[in-house]
Amino acid sequence: MLDAQPKTTQLSEYTEPNFWVETTELTFELQPENTIVSTRLQLKRNPKRPANSPLELDGDELELISVAVNGKQLGVNDYSLDEECLVIHNMPDEAVLETKVRVNPAQNTTLDGLYRSGGMYCTQCEAQGFRRITYYPDRPDVMSVFTTHIVADAEGNPVMLSNGNLITDSLDQGVRTVTWHDPHKKPSYLFALVAGDLVVKEDSFTTMSGREVALKLYVESQNIDKTDYALDALKRSMRWDEETYGREYDLDIFMIVAVDDFNMGAMENKGLNVFNSSCVLANPATATDATYQRIEGIVAHEYFHNWTGNRVTCRDWFQLSLKEGFTVFRDASFSADMNSAVVKRIEDATLMRTAQFAEDAGPMAHPVQPDSYIEISNFYTMTIYEKGAEVVRMLHKILGAEGFRKGSDLYFERHDGQAVTIHEFVGAMETANNIDLTLFKRWYKQAGTPVVEAQTQYDSSKQTLTLSLRQHCPDTPGQTNKKPMWLPVQLGLIAEDGQNINIQVEPAHFVFSNVPENTRVSLFCDFSAPIKLEYEQSTDELLFLLEHDSDGFNRWDAGQKLMLSWIEQARQGQFELSDSAKAGLTRLINSTDLDPALLTYLLKLPSESYVAEFSAPIDPVGIHHAREQVVNALANALESEFKACYKRLNIQQDYAPTHSQMAARSLKNISLYYWAMASAEGINQAQQQFQHADNMTDQMAALNILVNAGEKAQAQAALNDFYQQWQHDSLVINQWFTVQAGSAVLGTVAYVQTLIEHSAFDWRNPNKIRAVIGAFTNQSLVNFHQADGAGYKLLVDAILRLNKANPQIAARLLTPLTRWKRLLPQQSNLMKQQLESILKSGELSKDVYEVVSKSLI
Ligand code: PHE
Ligand code: ZN
Repeated sequence: MLDAQPKTTQLSEYTEPNFWVETTELTFELQPENTIVSTRLQLKRNPKRPANSPLELDGDELELISVAVNGKQLGVNDYSLDEECLVIHNMPDEAVLETKVRVNPAQNTTLDGLYRSGGMYCTQCEAQGFRRITYYPDRPDVMSVFTTHIVADAEGNPVMLSNGNLITDSLDQGVRTVTWHDPHKKPSYLFALVAGDLVVKEDSFTTMSGREVALKLYVESQNIDKTDYALDALKRSMRWDEETYGREYDLDIFMIVAVDDFNMGAMENKGLNVFNSSCVLANPATATDATYQRIEGIVAHEYFHNWTGNRVTCRDWFQLSLKEGFTVFRDASFSADMNSAVVKRIEDATLMRTAQFAEDAGPMAHPVQPDSYIEISNFYTMTIYEKGAEVVRMLHKILGAEGFRKGSDLYFERHDGQAVTIHEFVGAMETANNIDLTLFKRWYKQAGTPVVEAQTQYDSSKQTLTLSLRQHCPDTPGQTNKKPMWLPVQLGLIAEDGQNINIQVEPAHFVFSNVPENTRVSLFCDFSAPIKLEYEQSTDELLFLLEHDSDGFNRWDAGQKLMLSWIEQARQGQFELSDSAKAGLTRLINSTDLDPALLTYLLKLPSESYVAEFSAPIDPVGIHHAREQVVNALANALESEFKACYKRLNIQQDYAPTHSQMAARSLKNISLYYWAMASAEGINQAQQQFQHADNMTDQMAALNILVNAGEKAQAQAALNDFYQQWQHDSLVINQWFTVQAGSAVLGTVAYVQTLIEHSAFDWRNPNKIRAVIGAFTNQSLVNFHQADGAGYKLLVDAILRLNKANPQIAARLLTPLTRWKRLLPQQSNLMKQQLESILKSGELSKDVYEVVSKSLI
């Protein structure tokens, strides 16, 4: 917890450690409330550091029992010990250090370090959880070979796992001891231990060099029927990484464990990935298509970390995007290959425009390579992950697939087994491609979203088209006067017949000749750079591009821009759907040559938070009502088209999570949504679908429609039925919470309060907190921002309650409040007051303190 002035860590102050750790041997005597961890480290002085510099070990919430150097017990005068550090002076250049500490997994509600989830033991060490397990140089540049002994009651712990290979397993009077050895050097954040009563689903994979790898997915016994898809996704990921990056797996066993209580999505511990159960477990009856896709992406992401993160790791946490940005880029490319590339691009751009652009425009804005932090857990952000991935993607665009692969090959060849920086990554790309990327590196150092202003001018006498581009980047905390960024501009010229010419250029001023009259310009195709584009386009032009742009992404983008303008018109009380728009949308709905997954996105209105990002100041209530008006107009104007589309797609078939089925279901369900918004007949059909669905995608879509479009009584009845049907399944109940808390109709402050008091809600489980409080504050904007500030109060109460119990989750929940400066004055003031009340409320965790204090500057 917070002492008076929490320390800021600066990138510029990085120094190597005084000692390296050659080997790490850990013994865990596991008991829920009293676990003893004995540690034996082989240490070697770092010759680059001053002679006689002390050994510095991190520790957090540990009870030190004993410490010995080279077999000699130390007395309290031989070391100094405070809340965060154990420092030993007068160390020999080579030494064996032995320590013994006590920890209490049962009391550990932070889900960081060693803790209990259900009846099992598990660990989470990234970024700084290992120091909650033992005294250690808990920094990623210290890489060591780990051996782990686990000693526990055999009956309660039929499964006992750690990284690497199983070496021994023995039983003595009800006490079982297993030993694991990981031959690969790794930093402490990749350590993991799991023990408990789990069952396993096994599979295997033969690598490109013909080695057989045992794949094991461990779950609680009631979930054994939810393991197939993750294993399938894992095998496809392993193959894809061999084919696309030439990367082979490097142990004989790869394990995944599903855990209910987990702060994040999943963790890439070497050979032993730990997953939030919501990101790995699925069967057709309980998981939606969206869940299947999330699982595929996250399984791939964690697997890909084996090379981008584990074999080549980060020197320090300022390099976090070195592994996360690159790995998100890799998992996005994989998902694009498995499903639809255009749709994946639309989803990622949507995430950038809603969440990442908002972060860039707020008080927590930071570069992809930050230069300081108070609490590193606060930097697992949209910027590090998503913008970091966009930056890698731009490199891929600039170098081309082949050049990029040459660069990644060189990166792995040069740095395997090392802890490196972003500079080394770009350096490998430069050497392999013989290119100077100095200017490009501004993307890593400058925060904020560049704005590009585009202008076009057509000269009909010369048949030339002139395009001018100008960029600027707004100031962000601590950064002003930014320099221009290197922008890959992918653009198309679309003649009236819809022909598209694709070229790649750098920004400035271009003249295209022999351009026919009425040619439209399609800029930043495929979202070729993560920027905000300001370019005037008429409604007719947008409609035309929505129908004819050969870049699928920009078709969608044109449609979104059009719909944004409709929502804006609705706010001015001036919206009416034009005949030409109606005709164009009708043609779209009826078109048969389009991927239904893309068509679904073309028909989807931008979400309220997407609209919010395009307005200043933000008026959440106004946005909600304006958007509703446009929804109703579309629904009414196109009712018969949506009804026909639904009927065409509503066919009996066995569920499979294939792209073509998922695409068809998405189009079917958006059609049902509009149909139900237009008529009671549509609602009745939703009711039918709700009752008879044989898969969660259809059932959940129908429930959503009933909740948001149906009568209150109908909605409540469906919610009750659903609860009766699924109360035994905690992951489904999370979805049930989200539908309600995230609903503009239902999710009022008073209603969300009843959800918090529901017996299925659990303050110790992050998924439940996200499903209720996260859904309310991020989706039900009209209620969260209700005029009296009660929504803010509800959130702040939750944050204070979690401040000490789970600081990481508490700090994450703060995000919507950090946006206070952008709201209308009334809301803005209330939000600010709530932030101030947090600051005054006493002892804050570092996590919460950092976000609140930076937000109030
Ligand atoms: N490194 C994990 C991932 O991105 C995320 C994570 C961070 C998980 C911190 C737990 C704690 O795959
Ligand atoms: Zn990751």
